[in-house]
Amino acid sequence: MLRRSGSPAAWRATLGRSVRLFRDFRYEQPDPARFYTALAEDSTAMLGTYADLDGRTVLDVGGGPGYFREAFERAGATYVALDADVGELAGVGEIHPRTVIGSGMRLPFRDGAVDVTYSSNVLEHVPDPWQMAREMVRVTRPGGLVFVSYTVWFGPWGGHETAPWHYVSGRYARRRYRRKHGHEPKNRFGESLFEVTVGDGLRFVRDQAEADVVAVFPRYHPAWAYWLLRVPVLREVLTWNLMIVLRRPDDGSAHRSAA
Ligand SMILES: C[S@@+](CC[C@H](N)C(=O)[O-])C[C@H]1O[C@@H](n2cnc3c(N)ncnc32)[C@H](O)[C@@H]1O
Repeated sequence: MLRRSGSPAAWRATLGRSVRLFRDFRYEQPDPARFYTALAEDSTAMLGTYADLDGRTVLDVGGGPGYFREAFERAGATYVALDADVGELAGVGEIHPRTVIGSGMRLPFRDGAVDVTYSSNVLEHVPDPWQMAREMVRVTRPGGLVFVSYTVWFGPWGGHETAPWHYVSGRYARRRYRRKHGHEPKNRFGESLFEVTVGDGLRFVRDQAEADVVAVFPRYHPAWAYWLLRVPVLREVLTWNLMIVLRRPDDGSAHRSAA
């Protein structure tokens, strides 16, 4: 059974940690390895406060080029990446043998196949994000954990490289980017970038009945700022990235215990 084993000292949502993450975020374009390695370290440490990853199978849905593989393997996990895009998977060299090409919205795994499912910054790139979240719950074994985190649409980075024009509209932001740069953005609104709000995530958590709710929090914020999720409108613009942690009940009955 998965246990809440990480010591609080191992990962804490402090202001210093948020500042470091935002500082590293400035390197996302010029030095992606720097940013994604830091994010991967932070993610595995955070997951470690909910479950001992040692000896567990982790499925990373939309894993991308593999920056997270090393961090998960260092924590002792057997890491399997799934991604829909071969180009993304090959982004930093050869595609690792423990990689699956497929869609997060239709995971090619049997029910309860993995200990932990994880997805970071992918939900906003798929046309049916909550189908993908349901699939993640399905393939997680009883007692296992599901971590889904996504960039929220009305946050400062909602439009990705077309931000902040997504505040006008996604379509306008895409058109404006194309006019200015002479080519399409990588994240094309309506095709590979969709509007997913904090409200959508909270509704999913409330309405699903397959897993217990362990935690919902703004991923990059210090813990003292978690209250903002309780304030409609404000939470949409300040959250940036929403993390949802669910647990499949051992006996098949979800209790919806929100944390
Ligand atoms: C912004 S990247 C995130 C990569 C990594 N998870 C991270 O946090 O750095 C989004 C990834 O989602 C993948 N993706 C997009 N649509 C997908 C789908 N339907 N199923 C699985 N992966 C998908 C993309 O190929 C890309 O690698």
